[in-house]
Parts: sequence; structure tokens; C-alpha cells
Amino acid sequence: MGYENVKFLEESTFLVTGGAGFIGSNLCESILKLGYKVRCLDDLSTGKQENVDLFLDNPNYTFIKGDIKDLNTCMKACEGVDYVLNQAAWGSVPRSIEMPLYYCDNNIKGTLNMMEAARKNGVKKFVYASSSSVYGDEPNLPKQEGREGKLLSPYAVSKRANEEWAKQYTKHYGLDTYGLRYFNVFGRRQDPNGVYAAVIPKFVKQLLDGEQPTINGDGKQSRDFTYIENVIEANLKACLAPSSVAGEAFNIAYGGREYLVDIYYGLTKALGVEIEPKYGPDRAGDIKHSNADISKAKELLGYDPDWSFERGIKVAIEWYRENL
Ligand SMILES: NC(=O)c1ccc[n+]([C@@H]2O[C@H](COP(=O)([O-])OP(=O)(O)OC[C@H]3O[C@@H](n4cnc5c(N)ncnc54)[C@H](O)[C@@H]3O)[C@@H](O)[C@H]2O)c1
Repeated sequence: MGYENVKFLEESTFLVTGGAGFIGSNLCESILKLGYKVRCLDDLSTGKQENVDLFLDNPNYTFIKGDIKDLNTCMKACEGVDYVLNQAAWGSVPRSIEMPLYYCDNNIKGTLNMMEAARKNGVKKFVYASSSSVYGDEPNLPKQEGREGKLLSPYAVSKRANEEWAKQYTKHYGLDTYGLRYFNVFGRRQDPNGVYAAVIPKFVKQLLDGEQPTINGDGKQSRDFTYIENVIEANLKACLAPSSVAGEAFNIAYGGREYLVDIYYGLTKALGVEIEPKYGPDRAGDIKHSNADISKAKELLGYDPDWSFERGIKVAIEWYRENL
């Protein structure tokens, strides 16, 4: 369970792209705690300098401000690297519907540049962030790898394209790639601000500020909300996975299902506030229900998540109380 006991060779170097963002900065922090070297590559487009400043005192940490859309930057960043954890991308389904060209350049071409740089530099493992959005309109639950539907947004297309390119890089160039299909991740340092913010930090901040949050749709949509620690475990275990399962993508979640309206009232209770939500229209490109079958990652990566939603949300709320 967990990742405290995972072991890499001494002096191993990890490149975390998107390391100034929510998931990336948590990866940097955990790898530094385990005693390995971390290089963070981020253009600070949605990430924050403060998520870099946290680690600048650590001699095992270096930061490169740069853009994965630029192949030369990717090449330099991959020099001497053992493991790439590619998190850099723009999230948000609605924003991708507004800016399809940018999502193609940033999320598809950027990650392709990183794969090219990784193979040319002889990187051992290329682990990258995919997304549950690749299931599209497939109605069956739980979501199972190999049973995907029609894609519902440019964001989903970008993540699916990453998976297809990764298969090619494994097949033709022998780069060991592992796609991690994250399901609604939450936890410390997730940005609560802006129209495209994820729902948990956004609600917590609004409730702490005494504002009335809006629930899109009827609130009866459900998701497999996944605590950040499980995502860190999956990334580290993917770095140790055998080459025989390279080229594959894996669901990364806890394997539960929470209704949005229940989360809302759970948060008001935990924060000790009595604010009723507003209800808005459904969001384009959203699916009603999502939860993951995680048996493939368990079997092939040894992924064994030990942070349930209930356990994770308690810690996340405490973090937001102290840090917002
Ligand atoms: N948070 C979730 O629930 C979730 C779910 C599924 C998939 N994902 C994926 O996980 C990854 C990390 O997501 P996050 O929630 O931490 O988002 P985030 O916005 O907090 O982090 C993304 C980071 O990537 C950086 N970045 C973006 N484009 C870049 C570029 N061209 N060059 C260099 N850096 C760039 C940003 O500045 C930011 O620091 C993304 O690939 C996202 O699509 C996240």
C-alpha cells in the first residue's frame, strides 16, 4: 500500500513537467522527500511560482521555466533524466471547447515533443497524465480500459491523442510509456480560483468566503474523486513497471463514487456554514456519472490506493482552512 517503500537507484533523476501545478508540485514534493533528484519544467501558464519557491532551497531540486511546445527546451530538460512524469497540459473541458487550436498545440504537440525528447535522451520510463475524459459518452459503469465511447470535448481528444502517440513511441522507438487516466483528482495546492477551477477547492473557498456556490445541473452527477496521494503512488509505481506493459493506459482513481450534492453538504457541514447552493445549467461536454474499475492498474502496476475519498477530503479541508 502507498509508496513509502518504493525504491529507485540512488542518484535517480525525475523530470516533472507541469511541476508548478497542482499534481506536478505534489509529485516534486514526494520525490524530494524520498531523496531523489527532481527537475521541474513549467511555463507557469496555469502553474504558480509559489509552487516552485517551496523547493528552491533543496539542492536536489532545479526549476526550468520553459514551454513543452518548444522541442529544444524539451531536449535540454531531458538530458541525464531517468524518469519523465509528464503532467504539463491545460485542463478544463469548457475552456477546451473555447480554444481548440491551443489545446491541440499545447496538449498534443507539447506531449509529443516530450516523448521525442525522452526517447532521444534514452529516458527509462515516460509516464504521462491522461484523463477519464477519454471514456467520452460510454455509459457503462465502472469505466474499463478498452471500452471507450465517443469523445465529448477537444480536451478529451487531446488526452486520447497522447495515448495513441504513446503507443507509437513504445512500438516503433522502444520508449516505455505508461498513460495514467486520472479521475477528478483533489488535494492540497489545487487552485480554487477562476471560472475553470475544479469543483472541490472552488466550493471550499467560496464557502469560507461566505459566497454562494453554483452547482452545474441538478447536483446528482457523480464522480470517482481521487485524493492526490493515490496519484503520486500511481506515478511512482508506473516508473517501476515492466516493459511488457508499456504502451498501455491505466485508470487511476480510488474506485468509489460520490454525488456532487452530497459533497456540497459534506463540505458545508465540515466547514460549519449554512449556505444553500444555486443551481445552474449542465455544462457542455460533461458526463453524468463516472467511476473507475482500477483492477488493471492494480494487477499490472501494483497500484493499491489507500486514500479513500472520506480520508482524503478531511485532510484536504484542513489544508484549505490553513492555507486559503
Ligand atoms: N486535476 C485533475 O483532476 C486531473 C484529471 C485528469 C487529468 N489531469 C491531468 O493532470 C495534469 C496535471 O493537472 P493539474 O490538475 O495539476 O493542472 P495544473 O493546471 O495545476 O498543472 C498543469 C501545469 O502544467 C503547466 N503547463 C501547461 N502547459 C505547459 C507548457 N506548454 N509548457 C510547460 N508547462 C505547461 C502549467 O503551468 C501548470 O503548472 C494535466 O495533464 C491534466 O490534464 C488532471
